Amino acid sequence: MSSTNSQKPSASIIFIFGGSGDLNQRKLTPALYNLFIDGWMPEKFAIVGLGRSEYSNEKFRSHLLEGIQQFSRRKDENGKWAAFSESVSYLQMDAEDAASYKKITDTIQKFKSDWNVEANVIFYLAVAPQLVPDIAKKLGESSVCKDTKSTRIVVEKPFGHDLQSAHDLNTLLAELFKEDQIFRIDHYLGKETVQNILALRFANALFEPIWNRNYIDHVQITVAETVGVEERGGYYEQSGALRDMVQNHILQLMCMVAMEAPVNFEANEIRNKKVDVLNAIKKITKEEVRDYAVRGQYGEGWLKGKKVNGYREEEKVDKRSNVETFVAAKFYIDNWRWDKVPFYVRTGKYMHQKTSVINIQFKPAPHYAFPEEAAETWRPNRLTISIQPEMDIRLRFQAKRPGQSMTLNPVDMIFSYKDVYPEDHEPEAYETLLLDVMEGNPAQFMRADQVEAAWAVVMPIIEAWQQRAPNHFPNYSPDSWGPEDAEALIAKDGHNWITLAPKENK
Ligand code: BG6
Repeated sequence: MSSTNSQKPSASIIFIFGGSGDLNQRKLTPALYNLFIDGWMPEKFAIVGLGRSEYSNEKFRSHLLEGIQQFSRRKDENGKWAAFSESVSYLQMDAEDAASYKKITDTIQKFKSDWNVEANVIFYLAVAPQLVPDIAKKLGESSVCKDTKSTRIVVEKPFGHDLQSAHDLNTLLAELFKEDQIFRIDHYLGKETVQNILALRFANALFEPIWNRNYIDHVQITVAETVGVEERGGYYEQSGALRDMVQNHILQLMCMVAMEAPVNFEANEIRNKKVDVLNAIKKITKEEVRDYAVRGQYGEGWLKGKKVNGYREEEKVDKRSNVETFVAAKFYIDNWRWDKVPFYVRTGKYMHQKTSVINIQFKPAPHYAFPEEAAETWRPNRLTISIQPEMDIRLRFQAKRPGQSMTLNPVDMIFSYKDVYPEDHEPEAYETLLLDVMEGNPAQFMRADQVEAAWAVVMPIIEAWQQRAPNHFPNYSPDSWGPEDAEALIAKDGHNWITLAPKENK
């Protein structure tokens, strides 16, 4: 949702801590490169990878080029990479050594005097979470961040490990920076289809009157992945699906669906409305967790014809690990709009299908005037927002089948990105968000209170699960929709998980 104008951001120097790491190679540099191709990078910019490993600029660039060829939506075409990579360099430094921050100061001075302009200075912390406080402290204490208008710091998730650690990190950052300088990233907020939820809800008058407990029966959010934990076992052991996906991405999707209409598009106005949702989520006690959340862990099995390891056999994972790779949960939002409307969410690794989708299930029509035999399958209306990999919005309603008899069946009215915008290629989430950082627009980033409110929502679940070990792990097979408990969670309310077969999604 970056620019509402089409001006390029002003000159920017982007330092990437963890420059030689995975995130930079897979996401950050490809995003900046695509912004460059699309003409969004500033006239003057520099991208400086920081890290302990030794790299010449040349070697660093070719390492990043490999990432472009493998992960970028656009590869090296027509010499674009050569033009872009002139602005990419590498600075070897030990982020734990305060003296090496002088190298950063010197680099900034050099660019500024070469360019002869003032520039934004951005520090992107693409490092392990335990390194964040120390780097932030050293940046805050050195002179590089003293200009609070043009210096920004980007912090990746996970932001903290629980409510207390997130609070401590916020306190530390607040001592060192102004809130406007801190960009806590949740890449789901940069996804085109997620941003479109705001347009759908607040640029149309049609939906608002029915967007509440009077017409909506329940909401479902599914974020299913077909990958396992891959080589991230070490990280995942400290995290699990609840911390990795629910505390951030899924709760943010819920905020987009449930928030009140903003008065304007100011960053704080949008964030106020979202944080209101998080604060209104019904607090459950540890004892109630059983009724509201279930967890799962994948065992070994087959996925699309390939034998895969169980979670406990993954690299860097404890053979008796109780970490969950699947979560399903039910939330209520205690306010006027959503009173008694359940929000069911689920996410997991090694699911049957890769799909992120939000279903708004409406209540049935109040009176069925048609004879029973007229409707083979009379279903309530449903609005489906497919976030990825399919990108569409579909509204299901009853229609009369053509012919002499009055026969009804459900049909879909579909807005599909690829049909409406066949020529356009949606930007990746990181493109949008990095442009926002350069422009200094924090609307789609998490404010301190938002992150903490989201932690507060999941804390009872974390605590209850810590105290009570699961006795049935692993409890789901790869290529499934998770454990049976997840079906039971929703079935006891008389519902079932909505799963669109991929063919319906074509
Ligand atoms: C990350 C999680 O935040 O999001 C990963 O750490 C997960 O475990 C990823 O795979 C999913 O992102 P996307 O954009 O592929 O849906």
